[in-house]
Amino acid sequence: MKSQVHLGGKTFVPFIHNDEIMKSIDRVAAQINADFKDREDIPVILCVLNGAVMFTTELMQRLDFDCEFSSIRLSSYQGTQSTGRTKQVLGLTTDLSGRSVIIVEDIVDTGRTIADLVAIIKGTGAKDIKVCTLLLKPDVFDRATHIDYVAMEIPNRFILGFGLDYDQVGRNYKDIYVIEQ
Ligand code: IMP
Ligand code: MG
Repeated sequence: MKSQVHLGGKTFVPFIHNDEIMKSIDRVAAQINADFKDREDIPVILCVLNGAVMFTTELMQRLDFDCEFSSIRLSSYQGTQSTGRTKQVLGLTTDLSGRSVIIVEDIVDTGRTIADLVAIIKGTGAKDIKVCTLLLKPDVFDRATHIDYVAMEIPNRFILGFGLDYDQVGRNYKDIYVIEQ
């Protein structure tokens, strides 16, 4: 783990080591496996690009039931502030009507993005929607959306790494860093 990261004039310090991230993914995957073990249908794992890429690949390797993979791209953040608007940037290529969908997100902050996303997926006619996130900021989350699986809860501070970016940079870091206060 680097001792510090400098990006765009900001300093980020170590926050969550990769070992801890992996353990949290083990736990959340075990919960999903328990819930889906007796299901007859084949769920769609819907990765929310770009942030959830690393989480989704780790999660999928731990799922012991048959599933499909699809992705959707949304963006609502510029810099370190939520713009509060979600737009669908890249559409779905999988027909979700009648399907069970597990939405995989990197982070739920205010909850606006996930609320918009669940509405979009409901509109496709999906029959069952579950939400799984690597990270949740409970202090700012509006609680309007039920989040079925949370790997880790964190305080309301801006982080990057393990898929999460600061203006698109830092997604490749294997550990998570937090902005220095
Ligand atoms: P929300 O709509 O406020 O819940 O914001 C969710 C989206 O903002 C996530 O999908 C992330 O892409 C981004 N985001 C929220 N918090 C952070 C952070 O601490 N670091 C990097 N991106 C974040
Ligand atoms: Mg995201």
